[in-house]
This record gives sequence, C-alpha cells and structure tokens, in this order.
Amino acid sequence: MKSTLAGIRSIEDFELKDQRVFLRLDLNVPLKNGSITDTTRIDAALPTIQYALEHGAKLVVASHLGRPETKEDRAKYTLEPVAEKLQQLLNVEVILVDEPESEAPSALLRSLKKNQMILLENLRFNEDETANGDGLTEAICAYTDIYINDAFGASHRAHASIVGVPAKIKQKGIGFLMKKEIEMLDKVMVSPEPPFVAILGGAKVSDKIGVIENMIDKVDAFLIGGAMAYTFLAAEKVQVGASRVEKDKVKYAADLLQRVKARNKKIVLPVDHRIVSKVDSSADLKTTDVPSIPDGWLGVDVGPKTVQLFNNELKHAKTVFWNGPMGIFETKAFAEGTFAVAKALSELPNSITIVGGGDSAAAINASGYADRVTHISTGGGASLEFLQGDKLPGIEALRK
Ligand code: 3PG
Repeated sequence: MKSTLAGIRSIEDFELKDQRVFLRLDLNVPLKNGSITDTTRIDAALPTIQYALEHGAKLVVASHLGRPETKEDRAKYTLEPVAEKLQQLLNVEVILVDEPESEAPSALLRSLKKNQMILLENLRFNEDETANGDGLTEAICAYTDIYINDAFGASHRAHASIVGVPAKIKQKGIGFLMKKEIEMLDKVMVSPEPPFVAILGGAKVSDKIGVIENMIDKVDAFLIGGAMAYTFLAAEKVQVGASRVEKDKVKYAADLLQRVKARNKKIVLPVDHRIVSKVDSSADLKTTDVPSIPDGWLGVDVGPKTVQLFNNELKHAKTVFWNGPMGIFETKAFAEGTFAVAKALSELPNSITIVGGGDSAAAINASGYADRVTHISTGGGASLEFLQGDKLPGIEALRK
C-alpha cells in the first residue's frame, strides 16, 4: 500500500517569504465559561505557525470552533480566547478579523508587520463554510498565495476552507501536524510492525465496525473493553446483567468472533469486571471474579484479571493502537482499567504506541501517561475515518 502522503507537498516545499499564507488549523478547543480547558490542539499547531512566521510569511490563520447555529451562538463560539492564547504563546500580535469574507484581511495583509498575524473569526459563523459555498471560498482565495492545511481533526469535513479553497489554489500542502498524524496513522494502517495489537473500547460496537473490518487482516490481537465488550460477551451467551448491550449488533459480534478465530488471530474479551447497581453511583462498586455479571448489576470498568490478560498481550507488541476507554473513566472510581491500559502502553518504550483521538486522548491525558506514548491523535472523527480506510476530503484536496 502506498503512503497516504504520496503526491502531497509540505509547507517546507514552498518559498514563504512575503507570500500570503492561509493556514487552516483545527483550533476547536474545549471551553468552559469562556476559558480554554485544554490547549492540546493549540500547542500542536504552534510548530507550523512558528515556521511560517520565521520564514517571513504574511500569515492568515483560520479555524472553526464548535457548531454554532444561530447569531446568538456568536458570543459563545468566538475565537477571542484562542487569539489571546496564541498571542501569549507566540509573542506576536494576533489580529482577530471578524469578517473573513470582507475586504479587511486583504487590507491588513498589505501592511502586516513581522510580529503580527491575522486570525479569522470562527469560519462556521459564515454558512458557506459547512455548505462549501463559493462566497467564502472566493473571498479567501482573493487573499491567498499559498494554502496550508494543518487541521487534521477537521479533514474529514468537505467544508469550504478544507476542500473549496485548495481546489482553487495551485500552491498547496500540509503543515507539520498533518504530516505527523498521517505518518503515524499510516504506521498502523499501511505497515504495522508485528505483533500488532488493537485495543478497542468505548460505548458502541457500531462506532468501531469500520475500524475493525479495516484492521482484521493486519492485527494479531484485538483486546476489547468498555461497554462494547458486553455486546461481545452477549454474543458468547455470557450473562451481562443490566450492562449496556447493542442488541442489533450481537449477531455481528458473534460472526466477528468466528472470523477472527478462523484467521488464527486473537480477540480477548474481559474475564472480570467492576460493577455497580446504579451507573451514577460508586457506593456499591465491587469486582466480579468471573466473566458474567449478575442481574440488576452493570459493568463500568474491566477488572484486574482482564488487565493482566491485556498486559500479557501488550508486552510483546511492536505496534499498538488504542481507541476507546475501558470503562467510564470520567468517574474516578471507574477509571482503574483505563488507566492500567495507559500505564501498560507507557511501559513499551520500543514499540509504536498510537492513541486515537477523542475520548481516548482525554483518557490518556487524565492518566498522566500522555508523554510516554508515541502519538496521540488530535482528530477524533477524522482519525476513525482514516482508520476505516476512508479517504479524507481534506487530504485528497491537496494532491497535485
Ligand atoms: C473535532 O473536534 O473532532 C473537529 O474539530 C471537528 O469538529 P466537528 O465534528 O464539529 O466537525
């Protein structure tokens, strides 16, 4: 299989000096009462911004934030806090432009100084962004010489700033974050060094079917945890009490168990659980010693014997991909299994360990082991679609 990066240029391939560079980033950060609660996506975007500034680009940075629907949503989803944070981290003046489709960016670019950059206000305030409408595309193209996409997390969206603009700009390529994301996920999909172990968790089997199907010929073992494991256990006729089961996916799970075994590969399911009688309380939390869960009880985490089983598989692995927590890790009392998996990954210094974005990124950050894995994707939906084998529109739009 060819590298996904074949035929795609990088920011380093262009002469940036005095060029107007439009840099699409994914600065869709979580906010609480107007303050940024996690700066991971901003931090991950800094190397490309810094490179562009150091090489003399006249820089216009753009992103979406949340999913604003009405005019009233503007105050909630303004990029103002992001502009402030960038200004602080980069030590340059960040000029926030309210209307990306107006004359303002062109006018500002004509006299932009070395220690200044432009940040366009939330692109989704203009309905052309999600509709991939021509108005916004043409406005951006009018002040763009070079288009750089470093918004991996948004590259599964066929939006104006992701596909519309690069369709019209000849000089286009990726930034450092996109490059790293694609190289890392290619290591899983194109050339995983064996043994390759995929740890899958989270709520639903249905969210992971595409990934499972695309990985089935490449993995040596699937380790299944989280609520999706109860659907697999139900497929094996194991009693799971009041645990969440996707009834319409039990047959799929049973077929998959057969197919994996027929290929001489492993699929490891939990052999014990942490259970409670009510999902919103840890008052009667206890650990089962067996794979079954009694009536009236529900699983909220994997148990210690399961962690040991998973560790046995992981310790020989050369490539590990992890997507989806092992339980409701947001509740401290139910986080042991998820954090034990994070720890197991951190103890594999000679292996490639890749964590899919979204919940899994939040889980490894909360575990304290985030700096001990090879790569944590900044894309939730984007990394899942990539690993399903889908071609991301934002990547395809950059091919020559
Ligand atoms: C994300 O948070 O996954 C990306 O920023 C994409 O956001 P979206 O799902 O609102 O398009």
